[in-house]
Amino acid sequence: ADVNMSGPFIGAIDEGTTSARFMIFRAGTDDIVCYHQIEVPSIFVKEGWCEQDPRVITNTVSECIEGACKKLVALGGKVKDILAIGITNQRESTLIWDKNTGEALANAIIWLDNRTTSTVEDLLETIPNNARNINYLRPLCGLPLSPYFSGVKLRWLRDNVATVKRAMDAGDAMFGTIDTWLMYNLTGGVNGGVHKTDVTNASRTMLMNIETLQWDGNLLKFFGLPRSILPEICSSAEHFGVIAAGSLKGIPITADLGDQQAALVGQQCLSKGQAKATYGTGCFLLYNTGPSIVHSQHGLLTTVGYQLGRKASPYYALEGSVSIAGAAFNWLRDNIGLIQNTGQIETMASMVDNSLDVYFVPAFNGLYAPYWNQDARGVLCGLSEETTSEHIVRATLEAVCFQVRDILDSMHKDCKIPLAKLMVDGGMTVNNLFLQLQSDLVGIHVLRAKIAETTALGAAMAAYKTIAPQYNMEGPLSKSDERDVVKPKINSTERNLRYQKWKMAIERSLNWET
Ligand code: G3P
Repeated sequence: ADVNMSGPFIGAIDEGTTSARFMIFRAGTDDIVCYHQIEVPSIFVKEGWCEQDPRVITNTVSECIEGACKKLVALGGKVKDILAIGITNQRESTLIWDKNTGEALANAIIWLDNRTTSTVEDLLETIPNNARNINYLRPLCGLPLSPYFSGVKLRWLRDNVATVKRAMDAGDAMFGTIDTWLMYNLTGGVNGGVHKTDVTNASRTMLMNIETLQWDGNLLKFFGLPRSILPEICSSAEHFGVIAAGSLKGIPITADLGDQQAALVGQQCLSKGQAKATYGTGCFLLYNTGPSIVHSQHGLLTTVGYQLGRKASPYYALEGSVSIAGAAFNWLRDNIGLIQNTGQIETMASMVDNSLDVYFVPAFNGLYAPYWNQDARGVLCGLSEETTSEHIVRATLEAVCFQVRDILDSMHKDCKIPLAKLMVDGGMTVNNLFLQLQSDLVGIHVLRAKIAETTALGAAMAAYKTIAPQYNMEGPLSKSDERDVVKPKINSTERNLRYQKWKMAIERSLNWET
């Protein structure tokens, strides 16, 4: 056998919004040995609704595992040299199943689903003194009341699906985010499958107390949900269970992190003050605040960054979430036909020198951070007779950059120290023009990760840490650790002028009905 293929390896399951993948890394490095990836379809039941079939999710993940294991063997490696598995996943997406049959009681409600706007309205009504304050629960869970989070989705399921309510009342229901559902199924389902989650995923439900890192009685009461449905909250790196079937049978699961938190680890943002942005369907900027909790006064989320072991102290993060980033280009392609494929974006946007004062706010499902307004809608403004498709494509790239500036401004206000550099990863970062625009429009150094798969890498690093406590996660991951650095090319006067116009477009998006 090839001596380079002798392992040890670590596997990572990355179940994202649009696709699932299983990646095999050389343990303790960012060296990807092989992987297998399959798209997972979303079901758009009606406007604003987005679901996925729970069985399609588990079957797709199994197929990815088998596909990657086959590739490993073909390369001369052995599956038994995979020491452990980490799980990372799209967060907040909500599942509920029957503990007697192991079958889901409804489709998974995906994080960007907006059906629960009226649930949010109803919950706001229950806040004392008629305050209708979306920040009412922030001191307990770090999050504003929004359709985004699992607790709201669960409440909707209880109110609207009779079988869910019945199973909850009878003590027969199990709730989980995607990590929990996968872990339950991988470890045997009804035949002994574990019912667990980790602190990062739990911190997105609105049901966990951000200080004690336990489910909170007051939060459960607010949402009217029973404790019996909840999984056990574990750290992000510990022994969760053992895979029950398939090629990985017998291999332990030793890490579980939400995908954005995993990317924070994969980017090695492991000290206070470091931050990363991942550009996928949405864009998620996480700023490591160390072991201390920072409660945002400016619309950011307080979330758990990671807790690498039961005894390790939790690291917290401030998060700025943008729901539509790359998804705006899918919309240009699928709904408007302005582009044929996302590979064209850079070429098209480079054909013009600027966006000719076109501003596009893709607030298709409201605006997340720092606005948290579920009624905002998309606007495209500044059009003239000279406007071409190229200007609109460029304005779409800029929209992502401006949203990141919105968030960085809030982070600056909350933390007082301006960020000197931003680590970036995710699909959009292959686009050099985009990175230049990001650097220009924020006035910051942008550092591109060496590998695009920082999410899976973070899960693999945490999984390895559990079985090899001596492993230094801050050490070099590969022989050359250089990143591409992009520096701003425009001056602050121009930057601020353009940002002011962006803010005017945001005003229109927030108040489009008035
Ligand atoms: O909060 C949602 C986020 O976890 C989804 O990430 O990369 O699947 O779009 P992604």
